[in-house]
Amino acid sequence: MSVNDDVVSAAARCNGRYNVIPEFWHIYSFNTENIGGYSKYFDLQNKSLLTVGSSGEQVINAHLCGAKAITLYDVNPFAKYYTWLKIAAILRLDYNEYQRFFFEFTSGAVGHGPNVYRFNERLFNKLAPTLKDLDLESYIFWTDLYASIKKKSDIRYIFKDEEFRAKVIKGYSLYLNSEEDFYKAKKAIKSITFNYVHGDLFKDKVEGQFDNIWLSNLCTYHNMYEMYSLIEKLAHNLNVDGRMLFAYLYEIDPTFDDEENDNLMYRLDIAKKYLGDYLSEMHQIQTAREIFWKDKRDKEDLILVYHKK
Ligand SMILES: C[S@@+](CC[C@H](N)C(=O)[O-])C[C@H]1O[C@@H](n2cnc3c(N)ncnc32)[C@H](O)[C@@H]1O
Repeated sequence: MSVNDDVVSAAARCNGRYNVIPEFWHIYSFNTENIGGYSKYFDLQNKSLLTVGSSGEQVINAHLCGAKAITLYDVNPFAKYYTWLKIAAILRLDYNEYQRFFFEFTSGAVGHGPNVYRFNERLFNKLAPTLKDLDLESYIFWTDLYASIKKKSDIRYIFKDEEFRAKVIKGYSLYLNSEEDFYKAKKAIKSITFNYVHGDLFKDKVEGQFDNIWLSNLCTYHNMYEMYSLIEKLAHNLNVDGRMLFAYLYEIDPTFDDEENDNLMYRLDIAKKYLGDYLSEMHQIQTAREIFWKDKRDKEDLILVYHKK
């Protein structure tokens, strides 16, 4: 697929034919998992990473942790364009403008409620020259898409706004939590580079060796047997002493076996038995509920990690 085909497909959805697309062809506008919370459990400084993440947040946050040689491997054809759009925005916009451009709902300094400025063309035109310098294909994609859409705000139809709460988005991030972090990120992001592979991790033969692999919450959509095969396959792509995050579990009480849960990854005793040595580390991460409501309810998000010895 070329960038022109991608524009045609994105424009068709924005202009009203958005109901006939495969799962995951919506870009996650922001991450639904606490990347800022889990990044400290990985050795990223000067190390490589293979990650999914159409929101671009895995790539950006990993870079801010010092990762080099980042590969974004995603089934979403627009993941590369959106990641470069965010990078250009960090470089060119100020903290409030960034929120105005990307947030579905605003909070704090830029007011509360639905954000009528989202993806507005004036801010896009401001960041467009920077985007052009960074990645020409991404520049072509967004400028052609803006030009092909009748009602500009309909650009939202290529997005999935699963996490829309400004407070949670900020709490999950290493660069959005405060204006100070954002300005630090502006400097650090200048050197970012990443390799994008459009593909299906379950079907493809994955090339390359990595110190870290992040598989997000793919386990929400795939059963334990499919996940096991994927982990087994990608273990060959992991360097010795490397770590693979193979499951991000939301709001779990690790001391309680929830027999009602059909997703066996959430049944930790079963997961431990089935995954054996692949389940070598578990880390508890602050939940969205805690960030948003300061409400803990004995539940934490949990990451399941394979540490290759
Ligand atoms: C499981 S989704 C959920 C979003 C995620 N929790 C986050 O915070 O970014 C994570 C990412 O995996 C991508 N994805 C889903 N299935 C995939 C596959 N088979 N191969 C590669 N990427 C995939 C999606 O496009 C999405 O960007």
